[in-house]
Amino acid sequence: MKHQTIAVLDFGSQYTQVIARRIRECSVYSKIYNHKTTAKQLQKDNVVGVILSGGPESVLKKGSPRPDKKVFDLGVPVLGICYGVQLLGQMLGGKVEKSDEREYGHGKLKIKTKGSLFRGLPNSLRVWNSHGDRLARLPEGFRVVASTENSSFAGIADEKRKFYGIQFHPEVDHTEGGLNILENFLRKICGCKADWSMAELAEESIRNIRETVGEDRVLLGLSGGVDSSVAAALIHKAIGRQLTCVFVDNGLLRQNERELVVDLYKRHFQMDVRVARAGGKFLKRLKGVKDPERKRKIIGKTFVEVFQDSLKSIGGAKFLAQGTLYPDVIESISIDGNPAATIKSHHNVGGLPKNMKFKLLEPLRQLFKDEVRALGAELGLPKEVVWRQPFPGPGLGVRVLGDITSKKLNILRKADAILHEEMMESDLYYKVWQSFCVFLPVRTVGVMGDERTYDYVVAVRIVESKDAMTADWVRVPFEVLQRVSNRIINEVIGVNRVVYDISSKPPGTIEWE
Ligand code: XMP
Repeated sequence: MKHQTIAVLDFGSQYTQVIARRIRECSVYSKIYNHKTTAKQLQKDNVVGVILSGGPESVLKKGSPRPDKKVFDLGVPVLGICYGVQLLGQMLGGKVEKSDEREYGHGKLKIKTKGSLFRGLPNSLRVWNSHGDRLARLPEGFRVVASTENSSFAGIADEKRKFYGIQFHPEVDHTEGGLNILENFLRKICGCKADWSMAELAEESIRNIRETVGEDRVLLGLSGGVDSSVAAALIHKAIGRQLTCVFVDNGLLRQNERELVVDLYKRHFQMDVRVARAGGKFLKRLKGVKDPERKRKIIGKTFVEVFQDSLKSIGGAKFLAQGTLYPDVIESISIDGNPAATIKSHHNVGGLPKNMKFKLLEPLRQLFKDEVRALGAELGLPKEVVWRQPFPGPGLGVRVLGDITSKKLNILRKADAILHEEMMESDLYYKVWQSFCVFLPVRTVGVMGDERTYDYVVAVRIVESKDAMTADWVRVPFEVLQRVSNRIINEVIGVNRVVYDISSKPPGTIEWE
């Protein structure tokens, strides 16, 4: 049986995926469609409601995107958001004109008639707007149900045909009661049941992967991080041994990291995991290199090389899988054609080999991080993987400051393992964004027993953050810091001093290099 489907017709808004995500939050199945999709197709897909997304264009411009007119004859409810309202207005016989006052950012919505869309909400809401055009005359059958300072048609409704339009974005966090408005549309207006769950999402993705891949082979660069792990688990569930994972040991991993990955994926999940041991190659190329950007470039380039080589040695495959998430997709699109300045050249597993002909398989492309975690849990990945702290692609390479040697890496590995243990022990590991050690290439004088020492310094960095764009250092209880410091100094030969990093981002960054 086909699920009741909410169709989100995409007119190019940066929030389209957020609309779909909110619908999933309401446990309803939704699908994003190209705006040109025919009404016939939607009917075939058991669509019980249509949402017209926002978009950057103006309906007044010739050639701006339109839906199939017959969408309005399907007999299902329609909700137009932002650009979607202008479409409703124009296509159903109203009038749209350029507004003198463009409305961006917060606005105050006054609700005149609650009807089904605003049921249960207060009379006034803070909402998030971004639009230039406005309705000047309503189409027949519609009436105004809400307004803002700059727009007397901020909410319109034709309760008989169940057509609704709102100028603001109910899907974004900044809109008060936004989720309630969407939920009203889904449940009260479209009559959707709450029958969509992570388990169903997993099943659907598995079906899609099987359909796409057929009998072919898929390769995936496994880093052990959340995204590539969930992608691997999902694809493995779909096609089993047709999936081969490549794990690159770049010599810059944390203590026991390779063993843990092999143990979990190869032994527990019985995946075909190939380990490319390339530590020597990386360290040789990094020898004597001090500049952080050069280090990153070398690590990134060598990674792609090693990855390509191991793909070649594995033999042909049609697909290369990546754990790309929706936020990665948005980040790679520059807004207003103005690419963000490179602060640090980030590199991730799966840097696509350009000269190799693969089709990309990105089963997480429409999901947000928290959804990927929930999906990982659904697939049986352990908490340590699903809730793992982020770890940079260049690994300990950017945490041993200055030039990298095996000796320094070993010191850092031991110190970092102690910090990890203590964070787990004190129940803090999952509460912070990241906690890690940094090796500082300076030596200081100390005294141990009766002996003078002249050893290295380890910095401890523990930060909280929502999205890594900004971060603050965590006010960790002194007792925890004390234990960490004592243990590192006592147990790690070569370290006689531990310092705690109390810089926020900005102006600091999370990593030291
Ligand atoms: P910064 O140091 O820029 O780090 O404040 C922000 C977040 O990104 C992580 N990070 C990386 N992640 N590849 C990655 O996948 C990289 O090259 C990289 N460099 C930094 C960092 O750990 C933090 O979570």
